[in-house]
Amino acid sequence: MTAKNNAATTNSGASSIWGGRFEGGPSAIMQRINASIDFDKRLYAQDIRGSKAHCRMLMATGVIAKEDGEAILDGLEKVLQEIESGSFEFSAALEDIHMNVESRLAQIIGEPAGRLHTARSRNDQVATDFRLWVRDAIDGMEAALKGLQEVLIRRAEQHAATVMPGFTHLQAAQPVTFGHHMLAYVEMIGRDRSRLADARRRLNESPLGSAALAGTSFPIDRHMTAKELGFDRPCANSLDGVSDRDFALEFLAASSICAVHLSRLAEELVIWTSAQFRFVTLSDGFTTGSSIMPQKRNPDAAELVRAKAGRVIGDLNSLLIVMKGLPLTYSKDMQDDKEPVFEAAETMELCIAAMTGMIADMTVNEDVLKAAAGAGFTTATDIADWLVRVLGMPFRQAHHVTGRIVKLAEDRGCGLEDLSLADMQGVEPRITEDVFTVLGVEKSAASRTSFGGTAPDNVRAQAKAARERFL
Ligand code: ARG
Repeated sequence: MTAKNNAATTNSGASSIWGGRFEGGPSAIMQRINASIDFDKRLYAQDIRGSKAHCRMLMATGVIAKEDGEAILDGLEKVLQEIESGSFEFSAALEDIHMNVESRLAQIIGEPAGRLHTARSRNDQVATDFRLWVRDAIDGMEAALKGLQEVLIRRAEQHAATVMPGFTHLQAAQPVTFGHHMLAYVEMIGRDRSRLADARRRLNESPLGSAALAGTSFPIDRHMTAKELGFDRPCANSLDGVSDRDFALEFLAASSICAVHLSRLAEELVIWTSAQFRFVTLSDGFTTGSSIMPQKRNPDAAELVRAKAGRVIGDLNSLLIVMKGLPLTYSKDMQDDKEPVFEAAETMELCIAAMTGMIADMTVNEDVLKAAAGAGFTTATDIADWLVRVLGMPFRQAHHVTGRIVKLAEDRGCGLEDLSLADMQGVEPRITEDVFTVLGVEKSAASRTSFGGTAPDNVRAQAKAARERFL
């Protein structure tokens, strides 16, 4: 369907749902821009669940007759089955999931179907459906992130004592352990999970019964529907109930920060798998070959996790920009809230799964890591610390003295541990043989026993604590 062909076309017949005072139907272009069914059909289960809760409440409060209510509940169940079996025919002329379901309900049960929308509007209906959907998405993402933490902790336990270079500015800084590095991501993912849990707590209020915006004159029981739908309470203000999309924004914000964490880990995998680093090797399952260069093993999954963070951040931006100019209460702009959330949820699911697989399967090249751990004079801080501890030198002076020792090794083209005692004493005469006890990368890592530090014993204790805190 192209704009050129259809701009002037008008569908015959007004909408049966809201068309009481409309004579002509919407133009084809109007229908295309207005209809959301192509994407909001994903809300069908939440929509029917919400309608059933609303119907039961209308029956319980005597707003609709019991027989009508029973007919509606049976009919909604039939609609649900039709959708799940794939026999349901979605219609763009019926705009959205709400009207598609209600119109099919009317075909199945006739007149009582028209009573379901009493004391309700599509405004509180869609807000309710969408909250239910986002709540499920949060629960799914939280569980997936827990799985990723489990894998990271397992790798940390396996490599609690595997030394590698720790970096600042991507320059070799000090020896650390691979397990310690894995546990850093466990902390990040832990914060992601706690942000999601926090968003879920605020999300969990029911908009249903806010009606179009002002509430309703019918004697409804919003506490009853809130409870049936698993919400903690009804939203306190009906205007806010229909116009709030913070829950979607918070989901996108938490997803964006999480996507940034996954992207940083992905970037490290890209660097670590390069021929220049060779710190880890990704499995066949998570790499591709090159059609022309037989030696290649490309970290495509990691690169794509890195790339897809851009989409999720874009989804957050997109909805923030939709919302920022909207007066209370509902505006149709808010129909555009769904696609960014759906895209982000799908993207996160895939990225978390890919990262979990890559980390679980990767081979950690211990020898390469150990050799790299000492390159770049990474034990220089250990010499400075020795000068402070044994000779009582102020740290600033020790830093200066060590700098001269590093310069000496650099000029000779050797490592710090390859210098002789005489070489070192040429810089600082009080240095003794004892300095060599701190120079190995393993000794260096093992000495960092301060809380949260990189020593293997610490890492084992931290991994144990992480299991208790997160799994
Ligand atoms: N499809 C609409 C949405 O997603 C449902 C609400 C329509 N409300 C209205 N007043 N037209 O936002």
